[in-house]
Amino acid sequence: MGYEKHALLFLINLVLTPLISSYEPPSSLVIAPHCTSECGGIAIPYPFGIEKGCYFEDMDNPDSYPIMSVKCNDTFNPPKPILGTNIQILNISLEEADIRINSRIAYDCYNPNGNWSRSSNLVQFTISSSKNKFVAIGCDTYAWFTGIRYGKEYHTGCMTRCGELDDVVDNDCNGVGCCEVSIPDGITNISVNAYSFYNHTYVDFNPCSAAYTVANDAFTFSQRNLTQDLSYYSDLPLVPVIFNWGIGMKNCSEAKKDGSCLCKSNTICSNLKPDIEGYRCDCEDGFSGNPYLPQGCQDIDECKGTNDCEKPEYCQNKDGGYLCKCPEGYYGSATKTNRCISNKKPWLVPVIVTAGIGGGIIILLIIAFIIHWRHGERKLTKLREKNFRDNGGEILHQKVSRMDVLKIFTAQELENATDKYNESNIIGRGGFGVVYKGILTNNHHVAIKRSLKVDPNQVEQFINEVLVLSQINNRNVVKLLGCCLETEVPLLVYEFIKNGTLFDHLHDEGKASQFTWNLRLGIASEIADVLAYLHTTISTPIIHRDMKSMNVLLDESYTAKVADFGASKLVPLDQGQLATMVVGTQGYLDPEYMQTFELTEKSDVYSFGVVLLELLTKEKALSYGKPEAERCLATYFLRKMREDSLFDIVDKNITNGPIQIAQIKEVANLAKWCLRLKGDNRPTMKEAAMELEGIKRMGSHQKYRSGKSFDKLENYGDHSVRIPINDDGNTSGKDSDLYSLPNFVSPLGDGR
Ligand SMILES: *[C@@H]1O[C@H](CO)[C@@H](O)[C@H](O)[C@H]1NC(C)=O
Ligand SMILES: *[C@@H]1O[C@H](CO)[C@@H](O)[C@H](O)[C@H]1NC(C)=O
Repeated sequence: MGYEKHALLFLINLVLTPLISSYEPPSSLVIAPHCTSECGGIAIPYPFGIEKGCYFEDMDNPDSYPIMSVKCNDTFNPPKPILGTNIQILNISLEEADIRINSRIAYDCYNPNGNWSRSSNLVQFTISSSKNKFVAIGCDTYAWFTGIRYGKEYHTGCMTRCGELDDVVDNDCNGVGCCEVSIPDGITNISVNAYSFYNHTYVDFNPCSAAYTVANDAFTFSQRNLTQDLSYYSDLPLVPVIFNWGIGMKNCSEAKKDGSCLCKSNTICSNLKPDIEGYRCDCEDGFSGNPYLPQGCQDIDECKGTNDCEKPEYCQNKDGGYLCKCPEGYYGSATKTNRCISNKKPWLVPVIVTAGIGGGIIILLIIAFIIHWRHGERKLTKLREKNFRDNGGEILHQKVSRMDVLKIFTAQELENATDKYNESNIIGRGGFGVVYKGILTNNHHVAIKRSLKVDPNQVEQFINEVLVLSQINNRNVVKLLGCCLETEVPLLVYEFIKNGTLFDHLHDEGKASQFTWNLRLGIASEIADVLAYLHTTISTPIIHRDMKSMNVLLDESYTAKVADFGASKLVPLDQGQLATMVVGTQGYLDPEYMQTFELTEKSDVYSFGVVLLELLTKEKALSYGKPEAERCLATYFLRKMREDSLFDIVDKNITNGPIQIAQIKEVANLAKWCLRLKGDNRPTMKEAAMELEGIKRMGSHQKYRSGKSFDKLENYGDHSVRIPINDDGNTSGKDSDLYSLPNFVSPLGDGR
């Protein structure tokens, strides 16, 4: 009995591990435990740091700015964080990517021998334009502000005069005793100088001209500032200034391409202003933490903090957001403004709840009894294996009911919905079962997936699919609505997608001619986005493993919905690759994976490459009816690319118009990249998605995915002609023969 308990615990661990591993430790500020996170009460978050290895260093340009190493000078009490040689840090902000420092002021004093000095400046960083201004103070004063802006010198300045001290109004910087100018963005290498017109001869109450950049929130000005003789101060007044900082010398896409980008999961990378090198990271909405650390940003549990739900218990946290859900028996939106409304007669509710709880307890007791009885019967040697099968559903049941996102359907409900699993309701045969169309009593259409026969592996796959799908919330993934655990074979209930699979659209003659290039490109881009999302955005990455046109469904507006997660793998964070049995579909299978059995995200990239080929050529991934050389689409395509005769195999329906042709060439290049033999040489899905985004933009002056025709100015040869074009790029009207390119010759049509 003791062993049994032990085995059960082991099983629970086995099933729950993928979920538990998605909980990350609370975010911290520094990159390693030994790093000091503050100095004198001022937080020093990564990419800044004190000890070697604790701050960001640009390995490609080790001597380049910005240098983010901070010294903690503890000869002061409290200690002062110092950047560079003598710049005192007042605050570092990750959210704003700026740093507040103390800066000296420039002055020009006459008492009577003239002295002026230059203010210190922070060469490596860019001064924040929105948070600082440049001011000059004095009654016989002009001052210059100079810097480098986008590679050119930049100068500005202002002047201020006054006759007597009483003309000056405190905190009113209006040109009398004080003048100010705002600072444009993108200025580095600033320097500030103050001068006087008449050496302060006529204003004996004001010995000095002063000038400095200062944070708007810290600027004060009073008559006293005019009377003080700055050259007598041993410690010159310091004023706070705010600078922007960024990482390295590259922009986001360059850094991502070479893998050096610090922006990891749930973050957004943005470039600094044009011509200023470097990038910054931010957490995505609904996530928090230090976006520069390798673990990325963590989901904010809005249910613990402020949220808009009617009651705290109606709140459900999700990755990057939360839901307010009414309890069973209520409808409405569960927010503070739109409350839940009971859909039952008030007196009925307690009765039903009581009956429900009672029924539930009885069912649980029965299940518990059955499990116990079955355990007793099994031999110990086979216990572990069998428990997994038998308890999979049970453990999942606990999991699912706790998640509360999925609806648990009864067997009867689904039997009624499918007319007792009538053959006529079959809409597809998936990877490991049959898919039925069903209509629920509330007239909702659903797709119900049912395993073919009872096979222990299928319970595992079923659990796998539920676990995988319960982590995903994406409009391009077929939504799992619920499941049914009462039946011998588990059933999964999905949203019903009307328009069939991508495979149908490409390989069914009737549909394919309507299937325009823009639609195909949009679908390719959506698939790429969703795979990139699965690989990188969510906390536990998912490898789909069976990417193919048959597993992409399309809705009425041709939005792609990726389906069939039966074979997918959750990738624990600490594992880059997994050794697994080869699963997948012939024609789409990554050759490297077939050889090494090591599954990485790059296997999905390969399969995605094959889907791109299908979109381009309208051919199947494997065509058994064809001559051997043309049987495998990927091989055939790569040979055609080598022979530079891509357009032999591109679907003729889509090669109309130079923009399409240019886009097709780009997509073909991307496909070639995805089909590289070595996974390491393939792009990541994120790169592929970005690439497609760019390709889509090539045609963005066309009306994307609209049903209407529009006018487009095309340049053919020497003369411009206005051609009406449908959204699929077909020329229309009686002149169409003149301008359409039936076979690709060259983008400019010089072959005509
Ligand atoms: C101006 O005067 C105020 C108060 O008198 C003082 O706090 C501030 O440091 C002075 N500013 C400068 C730049 O000397
Ligand atoms: C002016 O500067 C000189 C050296 O640059 C210094 O010796 C002198 O003390 C300064 N005068 C005042 C009034 O601070």
